[in-house]
Amino acid sequence: MCGIFGYKGISTDASNIVFSGLKKLDYRGYDSWGIALCTNHEIFINKNIGKISDVKKLNLPLGNMAVGHTRWATTGSVCKINAHPHFSTNKSFSVVQNGIVENFEELKKSLIKKGYKFKSQTDTEVIVRLIESQKNENLVESIRISFLQLKGRNTIAVIDSKNNQIVALRNGSPLIAGTNKNDFFISSDTFSLSGFAQNYIDLDNFEMVVLKNNIEFFDIKTGQKINKVFKPMDISNTNCNKGKFAHYMIKEIMESSNCMDNIINTDKKLLLKLVESIKKSQRVYFVGSGTAGNAAAQMAYYLKKIANIPAISLVGADANDFFEIFSSKDLIIAPSQSGETSDVIEVLEIAKSKGVKIASLVNMPGSMMARLSDFKFSFHSGLEICVMSTKVFIAQISWGYLLAKTVANKYDEALKDLKNLSSLTKKYLNDPKQHQKIKKLASVLNKTKDIFILGKGQNFQIAKEGMIKLIEGTYKHAHAIPAGDLKHYAITLIKKNIFTIVLLSPDNYIADLNNAINEIRTRRGSIIGIFEKNQNNFDYYLSTPKLGETSAIFNVIPLQLLTYYLAVKLGNNVDKPRNIAKSVTVK
Ligand code: BG6
Repeated sequence: MCGIFGYKGISTDASNIVFSGLKKLDYRGYDSWGIALCTNHEIFINKNIGKISDVKKLNLPLGNMAVGHTRWATTGSVCKINAHPHFSTNKSFSVVQNGIVENFEELKKSLIKKGYKFKSQTDTEVIVRLIESQKNENLVESIRISFLQLKGRNTIAVIDSKNNQIVALRNGSPLIAGTNKNDFFISSDTFSLSGFAQNYIDLDNFEMVVLKNNIEFFDIKTGQKINKVFKPMDISNTNCNKGKFAHYMIKEIMESSNCMDNIINTDKKLLLKLVESIKKSQRVYFVGSGTAGNAAAQMAYYLKKIANIPAISLVGADANDFFEIFSSKDLIIAPSQSGETSDVIEVLEIAKSKGVKIASLVNMPGSMMARLSDFKFSFHSGLEICVMSTKVFIAQISWGYLLAKTVANKYDEALKDLKNLSSLTKKYLNDPKQHQKIKKLASVLNKTKDIFILGKGQNFQIAKEGMIKLIEGTYKHAHAIPAGDLKHYAITLIKKNIFTIVLLSPDNYIADLNNAINEIRTRRGSIIGIFEKNQNNFDYYLSTPKLGETSAIFNVIPLQLLTYYLAVKLGNNVDKPRNIAKSVTVK
């Protein structure tokens, strides 16, 4: 997925307006960037590989209309030719895209037969040639008809020098339009419009917006004009500077207890409505991708363990097997930071078509997932800029704990537990000794290639989240093992200087985990114990507060901090790890 930002208005510094908007979007892709500026009916393009946040100055003339793009490469390698925007043959218009044209090879073949030439390997240039091939004086019509031939989830924006307009269309990847008096904007998210627009609109699928002398909306399927209602920009939660912190990751980890407090203030009335729906449902599913996938599984674990509801957790991209059995008596709950992850949106769209009730839990207001939902919950965790999700994961599983306890009629007990968790978390995070200990462990693990993480019961999904964090942040091979499975395969990899992190909680699994620990030590592997009390069979020990049923929620914090200090030690780009991006809006 990529980031798109556009401006048309009274300012002649359009390229720099788009430049700063794009800088707020590079969490969506940082393989290459590009800006097209239109002045006197002529388009000038500045583009290159790399992060736009590393670019000091543009080389573009003044003008009042521009469109820009940050790329996460999907079709075509990372190189300047494949960077967006892509020009029409006569340079009268240029296109940026966020998505994947699943039928681009077929379209390209027929365009080549018609004599069209291609400079890049991208599916985007196929869209450009397709628009040209319509040979229709009315460019908006050519764009609309071409867009309807694209398969897959795509959002595109076209800057048109002949008619001095920007035309943008959505089917899948997010598209927001914004205004501030006579200034008009488009973007891939609301956050990047803060400081620019006063009002905004989220476009729905198959809707088009045209920025010309004013801003107009159209239905792509019919070409008919449609009315849309602007909402005031909510800029309360858009503080995005790092303050005293060296990286967003550590800043966001340090905000964990605030996120727990926000979950304590979850709208009780809405929560009780969801509890009613859970009790009436035939099957309850949780679905998420990446870190949100682990959160979904932890929520399902809590509902099973605490409320005896046989909840099923699904991974967004692999939920297809359940599509046939989805029924109108079911409920599906989707945690997501962005609310725009396309794997999960596809599951929700199919579930909705089968009458399944939908609840979503998102951090970004107005997202597609929220709009598909019967029950809309928000974390209010504030912006999470680091591509590795940390505080939002903690908010997600804290909410899962609150939900399960409420289904079990223990709402007040859950609030007490989460308040206790929040205050002990704040105390731990503000204790420099704890950070010192983890930094020291990072120096021990610095040279190792493989790290294993063991967890059981409430800690297994936490072990998996630790694995994701270590892989994302350190580029090392990390492997989460259900404690009981160790002796069935992974133990073959255990030998001297192989480190295994073991997550423990004061529950019935301590004996099982100690068996696993001793099996590892027998093969001379090293143990890093994370628990409320030290044990003789730990080679390294990270202490945790005494937390009972919420200890697993806390146990992810030492894993997030270890990832952070290791990534810093390894000199990796902590906030923008290679090859991934904050939310994946392509399949
Ligand atoms: C990945 C992010 O791209 O998408 C992960 O790197 C995230 O951090 C996953 O968990 C799912 O995203 P979301 O927005 O649905 O939580």
